Formats: sequence, C-alpha cells, structure tokens
Amino acid sequence: MDIEVRSLLRGAAETVSFGRRIGALAIPGDWVALTGDLGTGKTTLVSGIVEGIHPGTRSRSPTYVRVEVYGVSPAIVHADLYRLQAPGEWDTLGIEDLADRDAIVLVEWADRAPDRLPAERLELTLRYSGEAAREIRIHARGDRWHTLIKEGKLDRDTWSDALYPRD
Ligand SMILES: Nc1ncnc2c1ncn2[C@@H]1O[C@H](COP(=O)(O)OP(=O)(O)OP(=O)(O)O)[C@@H](O)[C@H]1O
Ligand SMILES: [Mg+2]
Repeated sequence: MDIEVRSLLRGAAETVSFGRRIGALAIPGDWVALTGDLGTGKTTLVSGIVEGIHPGTRSRSPTYVRVEVYGVSPAIVHADLYRLQAPGEWDTLGIEDLADRDAIVLVEWADRAPDRLPAERLELTLRYSGEAAREIRIHARGDRWHTLIKEGKLDRDTWSDALYPRD
C-alpha cells in the first residue's frame, strides 16, 4: 500500500523535530530513504531521527566513509550514497550485513540505488521552499507507515512543538 502526504518544515529546528518524531515511531527492521538536492536538509533530518531513537546520540556526516553505525538495540545504520559511482557499488558497502533484523537503516541519496532498498520503506523527499523552509514529501511504502500516517501519527501537531510529549 502506498500513501503520500506533504508537510512544510519552517527552519532547521522543525526538520530536526520532524526527524525526532520519525525516530520515536521507528522500529527495528525499518528502512528510511532520504532524497533531495544538495543542502535540502537530509543530514539534519537524520540527526533528528537518530535523536528520536537514541536520545543524546549525535550522528555524523558519513559522506566520505559512507556508512556509520550508532548505538545498539536497535543499531542505527546511516549510509550516504552521494559518492556512489554506480548502483553496483552498493554491494561493497555491506549495508545488508550491518542491517540485520534489529537495525534501523537511514539512507541519504537513496535515489542513487533505488533497486537495493527493501520494498517496505519510508521515503522522505526534501525540496527547497524558499530560503527558510523546506517541503517534505512523506511516502509510505508498505502497511506499517501507511497505518501510522492514517492514524495521524505524523500530523504536524505531533511534532511541530518540541514540548509535545511523544507516545
Ligand atoms: N526546514 C529547513 N528550513 C531551512 N533550512 C533548513 C531546513 N532544514 C535544514 N536546513 C538547513 O539546510 C542546510 C543544509 O542541511 P543539510 O546539511 O542537512 O542538507 P543535506 O541535504 O544533507 O546536504 P548535502 O546533500 O550537501 O549532504 C543546513 O544549513 C540546515 O540547517
Ligand atoms: Mg548530507
């Protein structure tokens, strides 16, 4: 099942808050695919997701090493495919090995290896919306995120105010 919704992120703090919400809802085995032009906020979003899974954990930018792992139970596998020369190079990164069933996998520049991602995933696509905002397209591929969206679990009021409690 596919469903897509859009939201506006007004400033980097909202990108982080939205990410935190995604992280709070993520469970082991989830894959999150992040796409968007240079500088649209993918790494900022990842930092929020990581914070939502393991509060206090700082993510790094894996552009050069391409894969970083943070924490345990669940481990977070953070890949950046920007420097992928060809989709086949994916196999050298060992992402599937790192991403056993207990990991949550976050892939920046996911559009560089679309065929390697599992069919069930959450796709987040960022676009510039003026200087000080981004539009985010939230595309649920598969039942789990579809249901969460239908239940309103990603509605703006669940993440836009940092004081809102997480469930
Ligand atoms: N919603 C937003 N509104 C305005 N600026 C934002 C928003 N989200 C993030 N930013 C800012 O955009 C800039 C780029 O962010 P970031 O490095 O996360 O992008 P990126 O997509 O990972 O870039 P790259 O493709 O170069 O790795 C940062 O200065 C960040 O603070
Ligand atoms: Mg980045």
